[in-house]
Amino acid sequence: MRLPIVAGNWKMYKTPAEAAEFAQAIIAPLLPFEGVERVVCPPFVAIPAVAAALRGTPIKVGAQNVHQEPHGAYTGSVSVPMLQGLVEYVIIGHSEVRQYQGETDAMINAKAKALLAGGLKPIIAVGESLAQREEGQTVAHVGGQVRAAFEGIPPESLANVVIAYEPIWAIGTGRNASPEDANQTIKEAVRDVLAELYGAAAAETVRIQYGGSVKPENMLAYMSMPEIDGALVGGASLKVNDFTALVRLAQEAKGA
Ligand code: 13P
Repeated sequence: MRLPIVAGNWKMYKTPAEAAEFAQAIIAPLLPFEGVERVVCPPFVAIPAVAAALRGTPIKVGAQNVHQEPHGAYTGSVSVPMLQGLVEYVIIGHSEVRQYQGETDAMINAKAKALLAGGLKPIIAVGESLAQREEGQTVAHVGGQVRAAFEGIPPESLANVVIAYEPIWAIGTGRNASPEDANQTIKEAVRDVLAELYGAAAAETVRIQYGGSVKPENMLAYMSMPEIDGALVGGASLKVNDFTALVRLAQEAKGA
């Protein structure tokens, strides 16, 4: 049984003060849903305030990116040692970072290794563009991203890795992949590839989220799919009521 995980990716929203206020506000509503791992990923500068607000609660904190080197002349970057003690999870491979910051598969692999070595857990995002989908390249492309991200990652690390399948054309567009379609792609492009790399039994243990225009109205349908173990949520994670509803629906669907 894979513990469902719902993570809010706040992207470039909320000042430190707004983030701390939001963190305080979600504690009580999210407390009952113990069958779901609950994570919020604020912007870097808001992480200390959110981590302080959530310390001692079951709600976990994540970062939205990290540099693969521990220190150095990398202006504007944040490293694993800087995040240790503040976050448990770190999103890497998000399509917005791949697209706007030139993050490559090799960098994502290096970041995954650095995180795991530092005791932090990567949420590795993968997904195809609309053009790739229309050309029938979805499984090849996403499968390739998975292979590249896991290059050299030993099987004993799988328990500390989450994968988020986020079709790029479904992010922030309101145009979501159908639950059946997302389930199928996750199976063929992610879980089957993990099975090739690590064996079927190990692949069954890895948690895989769907992301892309997830909202309370469609959450139950996604969470009812056997291959989908949670959601990585942008827009709908920014409101207390919506984020609470997503977590509640994950718990309802997975019967945890
Ligand atoms: P939306 O939920 O706003 O579509 O964003 C999805 C996403 O990119 C989460 O990482």
